[in-house]
Amino acid sequence: MGKDILVLTGSPRKGGNSDKLADAFIKGANHSGHDTVKFEAAFKNIQGCKGCGLCFSGSHPCVIRDDFDELYPLLERSGVIAFFSPLYWGGISAQLKAAWDRFHAYTGRENRKRLAIRESVYVLCGHNDNTAQYEPAAKIYRDIAAYMGWQDRGVLLAAGLLDKTGIDGRPAELAKAEALGASL
Ligand SMILES: Cc1cc2nc3c(=O)[nH]c(=O)nc-3n(C[C@H](O)[C@H](O)[C@H](O)COP(=O)(O)O)c2cc1C
Repeated sequence: MGKDILVLTGSPRKGGNSDKLADAFIKGANHSGHDTVKFEAAFKNIQGCKGCGLCFSGSHPCVIRDDFDELYPLLERSGVIAFFSPLYWGGISAQLKAAWDRFHAYTGRENRKRLAIRESVYVLCGHNDNTAQYEPAAKIYRDIAAYMGWQDRGVLLAAGLLDKTGIDGRPAELAKAEALGASL
C-alpha cells in the first residue's frame, strides 16, 4: 500500500535546486504508488516557536495562528516526512527551520503519539563542493529523527550548486533524488 509522504521544502527560490530535487523525489515516490503533498514553507507565513509551553493547551497544537495551521494536519496524517533545504550559513534555511521549530508541539511524550510520521529523509543542496560543510546540518536532522523515533531513510547531499538553474546540469543528482523517492 502506498504511503502518505509530506514533502517540506525550505527554499525561497521556486524552481531552484532544492525545489527541483523535491520534484524529482516526488516523481519517484508517485511512481512507486505513494501519495505526496508538497508544502513550501518559504511561501507560507510561519513564525518561529515562542517557547511558551502552551502547546495543545487550546484547540490547536500551537497558540500562534499562522500557516502552521495548514501544516499540522499533514504532520498528523503523513507516514513519511521528506525535508528539502538549501544550505544557508552551514545550516538549514530559516524558512524551513521556523516550521521545524514548531514541531516542538509534538515533542512531549503524549503529543508525539499524534504524529503519523515513522520515516524521514533529508535532501540538502549548497554551493560548497566540500560535503564536510554539510555535515553539521545533516547531523541535526539525524539527531531530530532519532529523538522523534523516525527511521532515517536517507540523506542526500547535492554539492557544488550555486545558481538557481545549476541542478539542470546535474542529472545524476536528480536521478538520486528520484530513486530516493521510489525507494520508500
Ligand atoms: C543566505 C545564503 C546563505 C548561504 N550559505 C551557504 C553555505 O553556508 N554553504 C554553501 O555551500 N552554500 C551556501 N549558500 C548557497 C546555497 O546553498 C545554494 O545556492 C543552493 O544551491 C541554493 O538552493 P536553492 O536553489 O534550492 O535555493 C547560501 C545561499 C544564501 C542565499
